[in-house]
Parts: sequence; C-alpha cells; structure tokens
Amino acid sequence: MRNILVTGGAGFIGTNFVYYWLAKYPEDHVVVLDALTYAGNRENLTEAETNPKFKFVHGNILDQPLVESLLKNHKIDTLVHFAAESHVDRSIHGPDEFINTNIVGTHTLLKTAKKVWLDENPRPHRFHHISTDEVYGSLKPDDPPFAENTPYAPNSPYAASKASSDHLVRAYHETYGLQTSISNCSNNYGPYQFPEKLIPLIITNILNGKPLPVYGDGRQIRDWLYVDDHNLGVDLILEKGNAGEIYNIGGNNEWTNIDIVKTICNLIHERVSRNKDLLKRYPNCTSAKGNHPQTLITHVTDRLGHDRRYAINAEKISSGLGYSPAQSFETGIRKTLEWFLDKEDWWRRIMDGSYSKWIAVNYDDPK
Ligand code: NAD
Ligand code: DAU
Repeated sequence: MRNILVTGGAGFIGTNFVYYWLAKYPEDHVVVLDALTYAGNRENLTEAETNPKFKFVHGNILDQPLVESLLKNHKIDTLVHFAAESHVDRSIHGPDEFINTNIVGTHTLLKTAKKVWLDENPRPHRFHHISTDEVYGSLKPDDPPFAENTPYAPNSPYAASKASSDHLVRAYHETYGLQTSISNCSNNYGPYQFPEKLIPLIITNILNGKPLPVYGDGRQIRDWLYVDDHNLGVDLILEKGNAGEIYNIGGNNEWTNIDIVKTICNLIHERVSRNKDLLKRYPNCTSAKGNHPQTLITHVTDRLGHDRRYAINAEKISSGLGYSPAQSFETGIRKTLEWFLDKEDWWRRIMDGSYSKWIAVNYDDPK
C-alpha cells in the first residue's frame, strides 16, 4: 500500500493519473496538491473526491511548510511530480512563471523531501519527476529518435525550465541519495487536455466553426501518445524501475501537425455529418453547414524558435520494464474525440471564462 502525493493533479495528465491510479490500486491513498492555475480545474476531480482514499489540497508547490506538513501528516512515501507551467507559447510570452514553478517549485519539493525522508526520519521513499522530450531539443528528419543519453539542448523557456528541473532531481539523487526517477515523455493527448494545446484546440475550434491555426508550414513533427499510456509508463517505473534511472516514454507515432489537423477534420466530418443529434448540438460546426472542416485550416505566423521534430526511442522502458502502449493512434484519437463531443460543458466553461482564467495566446492572424 502506498501513500502518494500527486502535484498538479488537477491538470490534464495529473487528473488522468489520479483516475488511473485509484482504479488500479484501490488500497492506496492519493493526495493531490494543486495551485489551480488557469490550467488546473478542481471539477476534474469531482468523482475522485467521492473516494475516501482521495484528498484534494489547494496549495502551491512553492509553499515549503505546506509540502512538509503533507509529507508528514499523510505519511507520504511516493511523490509524483506533474505540477508545472506546461504551454510552450506561454513560456515565450512570459517565462517568469515557468522559472518559479518548474525550477524553484521542483527544488522546493526536493529539499522538503530530503528533509522529511532522509534527514529527519529516514524511510523508504520515491520521488518521481515527470519531464518532457522537449529537453532534448529538435531533431533533423533523419536523426535517430531521442534516447536517454541524448544530450540536453532545450530551445524554449519552457523546455529550459524542465531541463533545469531534471538536473536538480538528478543532483539530489547523486549528492544526497534521494530515491528519484525521471520520465521524459512525448506529446500526450486525451480527456481533460486544456484546449490551448493542438489536439483539443483543433477539436473545439471545428465544433465552433472557428479557424484552425497551423503554425508556419505545419510540417513540424510530434510523437503522440495517449495519456493513459504515459500513466502506464509511470506506473511501471514506480513498480519496477530503480531509483536513479531515467526513462523515455513514447508511442513510436510521429505525425506532422498538418496531418494531425487534417485527420481530426476527417474524423469529425465523418462523425458529425451523419448524426442528427450532433448536428443539432453543434450547429456552428462546418459539417453542419455542409462544408468540410478542412476549409477552416489557416496557416499563421510560426512559433518563435519552433522545434521541428521530436521522436522518442522507448527501447529502455519497453525491454527493461515490459512497456507497450495500449492504444494505437487510431483508437486513442477516437476515444479523445468522443470525450470532447460528450463533455461540451467542460470545455465551454473553460472557453467562456467560467473557470475565470482562460487567456488565449492569440496566434490566429492569417498570413
Ligand atoms: P497542465 O498545464 O494541464 O497542468 C498543470 C497542473 O499543475 C495544473 O493543474 C496547475 O494548476 C498545476 N500547477 C501549476 N503550477 C503549480 C504550482 N506552482 N503549485 C501547484 N500546482 C501547480 O499540464 P499537463 O499537460 O498535465 O503536464 C503535466 C506535466 O507533464 C508537466 O510537468 C509537463 O511538463 C509534463 N509533460 C506534459 C506533456 C504533454 O504533452 N502535455 C508531455 C510530457 C511531459
Ligand atoms: O513533447 C512534449 C510536450 O508536448 C510537453 O512537454 C508540453 O507540455 C506540451 O504542451 C507539448 O508541447 P508542444 O509545443 O509540442 O504542444 P502544442 O500542443 O502546443 O503544439 C503541438 C504542435 O502543434 C507544435 O508543433 C505547435 C503546433 N501548433 C500548436 C498550436 C496550439 C499549431 O500549429 N497550432 C496551434 O494552434
């Protein structure tokens, strides 16, 4: 039985992780610490809050006394650290929050974990840090995918802040013996993803009949993974991976952005144009007006410093821990689309500002 502290558990991946964990390990206690920034949403966890093994705490990872009291009072033995500023475009417009949360916040957690788990009352523990493939920089078309020993070369303030946090986690293991592990994952998609990220943005814009902004030529490549396949990887690392190890997690699923956008257009057109109920619910969807959603594709000014290609070599976690994603892109994207069609209230409340913090990073200026 574990007592787990999940930071950032009201965000996209953290929410999915909480449901994954409570379903798979019903004996475990799960505490979420989340500051509820624009990207955090307590309503995501409404169902979890009916479970007596679950507790939500509204607070900041920078608050050391709070973190210390949670580690002690809940006898936490496992910390899974998702909390972060996560959107590259926002880091380009305003890097400060990324430095505070991603670097200083991670360090606050590390030094508190060291104090409680090593200095005051040594006990078995694990600090798992959730990181990203963006720390490795950008690949050329024929480069091999990122492996765990690929040198770091972060290009955006977001990626640089995550790279810094990875180095701090590694240093706390090497210097103090804190039992840490790190996973560097590729692009996730799935339920609860905030509609500023490519896939949910494209789905919701099509349903609203709004332009589909494609940065630059749209030929940038990302390696997409269904969110619960990321959580499966973290689960295997916690169950079987040794402290001090780093694992890349990915789905071997490279797509250009423009092909992702066109695929979602086709799926929605196929799904909406022959369904009376959906046609009624989404009257602004282009398919309801007899047009194909691809007519909404709008090439806009490129992201500054835009990484051209990411791809993950997941050999270490596959052969070492038996990892294999459960979803193909075909099944994962359909599940995701069904979730967004079904949860219209969720994404509309975000977009109309009912969750109060939606500030669009506006890129829809057609060239
Ligand atoms: P998200 O932006 O959806 O959620 C982040 C959560 O962290 C929110 O609930 C927010 O309220 C919370 N948070 C932010 N600052 C905080 C603070 N100072 N104290 C406490 N809570 C705070 O992010 P996500 O997409 O779910 O990403 C989660 C983690 O996974 C991040 O560390 C990110 O770098 C990493 N990651 C994401 C992806 C992806 O494709 N989304 C891929 C690889 C790695
Ligand atoms: O690779 C892992 C990373 O994936 C995570 O570490 C980040 O937290 C997560 O946000 C994601 O970063 P990206 O920048 O790759 O994701 P995003 O959804 O913002 O963009 C995906 C690609 O689509 C990227 O090449 C930019 C492009 N894009 C994005 C948006 C929002 C567009 O062309 N138009 C858009 O409107």
